[in-house]
Amino acid sequence: MHSSASHRHGEASEESNKETKGLILNGGWRYDLTGWFHDTFSFRGTFRELRQRTANLAQLQPGEQVLDVGCGTGTLALIAKERVGRAGRVVGVDPGKEQIARALKKAARRHVSIEFQVGVIEQLPFPDQTFDVVFSTLMMHHVPHPLKRQGLAEIARVLKPGGRLVIADFKGKPERTGLATRFHAGGSGMHDLVAIVSEAGFSQVETEEMQPPRFSAFPGAGIVLAYKSSDECVQAWEPRP
Ligand SMILES: C[S@@+](CC[C@H](N)C(=O)[O-])C[C@H]1O[C@@H](n2cnc3c(N)ncnc32)[C@H](O)[C@@H]1O
Repeated sequence: MHSSASHRHGEASEESNKETKGLILNGGWRYDLTGWFHDTFSFRGTFRELRQRTANLAQLQPGEQVLDVGCGTGTLALIAKERVGRAGRVVGVDPGKEQIARALKKAARRHVSIEFQVGVIEQLPFPDQTFDVVFSTLMMHHVPHPLKRQGLAEIARVLKPGGRLVIADFKGKPERTGLATRFHAGGSGMHDLVAIVSEAGFSQVETEEMQPPRFSAFPGAGIVLAYKSSDECVQAWEPRP
């Protein structure tokens, strides 16, 4: 899935890529091609299944407003748009400008209206309490731990009270070495993810697991569903000393 990746921490970045401590992917169509190849030949369709299960868990309703953070080339956003319909609104943000360009092309080809824009989880360019649902799929392992906390506070800010957060991510593989370790520097197990989601003030946290099928290279994944409290007691993010 990592067709072209870069970290950008304060160094001069390519025009309109966003600065982040996360690992930006910028493959565009190459990301989709690599993803299709892995899914078909190594992962035995589990990527497709993971996206469908993520969308199912959110129980999207026609007319709802949905944000996909780290949307990549927009595949989940397209599924979400089918479910919320013309009355609904779907927005995708990703720091990779080629990912966004590819997502825009895919939406235009299907004649659907989805707002894709370059952006980062650490500073979501939306007013408070905008969205009914926020997704983040296969993205959390791209950001270091403090950024996960900061990003979850941003997500809580832009969710309406009672709004749903659905995060899907690979299960951590502690034995990873070399390049894999670098790519998955922010990787965490489901337990960690549940802990930081709860710490960020979300409640009714539920999880689903996807085990790797036999003879598949898929590492296994987890999906977390959680609700923003309706009583406005979601924690504000402050950097730890
Ligand atoms: C493995 S891809 C997953 C993309 C998409 N969600 C999917 O399921 O195909 C992870 C994405 O997270 C993005 N990303 C990295 N750092 C980010 C940040 N700080 N904020 C938002 N997205 C980020 C990358 O650019 C990349 O497109």
